[in-house]
Amino acid sequence: FVEPLPTFADSRVSGSQLQVRMVEFQQRILPTSCYSRLSPPFCAGTYVWGYQVGERPPHYPGYTVEAKQGVPTVVTYINALPLPAQSQLLPLLTVDQTIHWADPLGQMGATVPFAGALPTVVHLHGGETPSAFDGAPEAWFTSDGRHGRGYCSYAPTAPNAAVYWYPNGQPATTLWFHDHTLGVTRLTLFSGLAAFYLIRDAYDTGQPHNPLGLPTGAQEIELMIQDRQFDTRGQLLFPDGTPPARPTGLNGPPPNPSIHPYWIPEFFGDVIVVNGKAWPYLNVEPRRYRFRFLNAANARFFQMRLIDALSQEPGPIFWQIGTDGGLLDRPVKLNDPQDRTSPSLLLAPAERADVIIDFAPYAGRTLLLINSAPAPFPDGDPPDPATNGRIMQIRVSLPLSETDRTYNPASGLPLRGGVNQPPALVRLANPQTGMLAAGVKPAVRRQLVLVEVEGPGGPVEVLVNNTKWSGIREGSGQPVSGSQPDRQGQGIYLTELPRVGATEIWEVVNLTEDAHPIHIHLVQFQLLNRQALDVEGYRARYDSLFPGGTYNGLRSDGAWGPVHYPPGVFIPGYGPPLPYGQPNARGALGGNPDVTPYLRGPLLLPDAGEDGWKDTIKMYPGQVTRLVVRWAPITTPLKEVSPGQNLYPFDPTQGPGYVWHCHILDHEDNEMMRPYLPVP
Ligand code: C2O
Ligand code: CU
Repeated sequence: FVEPLPTFADSRVSGSQLQVRMVEFQQRILPTSCYSRLSPPFCAGTYVWGYQVGERPPHYPGYTVEAKQGVPTVVTYINALPLPAQSQLLPLLTVDQTIHWADPLGQMGATVPFAGALPTVVHLHGGETPSAFDGAPEAWFTSDGRHGRGYCSYAPTAPNAAVYWYPNGQPATTLWFHDHTLGVTRLTLFSGLAAFYLIRDAYDTGQPHNPLGLPTGAQEIELMIQDRQFDTRGQLLFPDGTPPARPTGLNGPPPNPSIHPYWIPEFFGDVIVVNGKAWPYLNVEPRRYRFRFLNAANARFFQMRLIDALSQEPGPIFWQIGTDGGLLDRPVKLNDPQDRTSPSLLLAPAERADVIIDFAPYAGRTLLLINSAPAPFPDGDPPDPATNGRIMQIRVSLPLSETDRTYNPASGLPLRGGVNQPPALVRLANPQTGMLAAGVKPAVRRQLVLVEVEGPGGPVEVLVNNTKWSGIREGSGQPVSGSQPDRQGQGIYLTELPRVGATEIWEVVNLTEDAHPIHIHLVQFQLLNRQALDVEGYRARYDSLFPGGTYNGLRSDGAWGPVHYPPGVFIPGYGPPLPYGQPNARGALGGNPDVTPYLRGPLLLPDAGEDGWKDTIKMYPGQVTRLVVRWAPITTPLKEVSPGQNLYPFDPTQGPGYVWHCHILDHEDNEMMRPYLPVP
């Protein structure tokens, strides 16, 4: 805790036209004293990639973009990353070409690491965005002007750039933009390509006298929390075995030599970095602050609370006022020091929480933000209290500059539905019962599964609905039964084809050992409930339906090649066992046997702080997680939308389509992502 937290209050960037350049530069993520011991060029800092936003200097994370509801933003994204020969960072990363990735040179499948210009594409996470500008994983562009399929630009631009149009139709919330390139997002985000994107509206203006009275100015602080690992030269270390440029002693053999040599199932680092600074401190006044928490880690969950740095006594309450998609109806109390059962703030990768903390009773004290989430979550190793178990220090050391007149969450006053407040949340789900809200009529129910494929040598890939990104079954080369070719002729087979305007229930059955943060593009959804299930029983039923087939995998003789599976044995990557479009016994699409007979126990209601619009949700092992998803802008009242009706200010059925995926970046990079397309 030797250097201050970088904050953006005085440097956010707004405007209807913005330029964002992806560049490589050096930044002192670690304390300056660490770098001064190093020889040039490393003494100047860690090589990172970052979004250089507008006229601001390059910084990781990029300076926050601020947009106004209803005022579109046009952003020109420029890939100005250096070619490998000029890059100090690219040689430290290994693009594994044995996983399906955005390959500009047509070498996919090669066991040699990639050595060309790195493709990039930008996604505004949580945004209601036309799919042409959504940052489709294959719509990439390189610094030397190559384009992936589905590449789109709103206006003509340089070959190493793309112009995206964001309508900003949603109410005030915390979004972020980050790289989304197929098969390399774990590396590009690890390298720094991420930034906040705040939407303001008439109630949450970001001005000192906003109607809601939320803390603003120096009292409104973004917190992008990540874990990282460094080598002895202060450079980023992604522990995938190889890089030839590594000083000796730091890199072992490739971790996964016979399958994907340079892919690791989850990256976990020992250094916690907030806004691009390792273990920073923040000086605050004894008053209320608004924090935009974002977990931007590759795979680590953060379970957070504040404690007194000296006495270790529990620190202040966290009042959560917002979720991924905007404000809650009323604040939710977390980390209550008077109540040992009070939940802490738990964020999976890509989740955000808008939180008010009142430091008034803590004048003169030093507080420590700690993390207690095991990695992997929930059954992995607990964090080390000396390293990744601590995040940052908050010193209540500044004098109070004026009376605090901001909204007081302890007052019991709601955030919505009152005078000078936004309207109450449109309810798709009833958080008290775990049932659908009155008047919600889902058109479609889907039952989908999450699967991790284990090979004899370790994990092979992670799948949504046992289906690869392409929808093509490995081995046979045939599309998953019941899928449809995408309209753009990209060789991708689609299964999720929701009708625009329709409301659907997605029941996602997690058959793996880990929790996965599942993210759906374009929409904000609501959590209906969760429920435990007999995984073994369901899995046996699931396996029994497979007709047998061939899959490329690790054979019993240790070689890689076609493996034959007899009937009745689960075939990884083969798709669901039944045709996708044929409803199962419960009338659910997805090609999976009905999960109902295997459900165990009561409906589990949303956790504190999940009772609002979400775009990323934790799906726990051994549970089915049920979502209500509506393909309409979140501001749409219940009765105003019906299947087929498009209320977006653009046509979401046009363009290359959207994706849904796990936001553990190492999973998303290795097949745990599917394209989807809303249909008219
Ligand atoms: Cu934050 Cu599809 O991504
Ligand atoms: Cu996952």
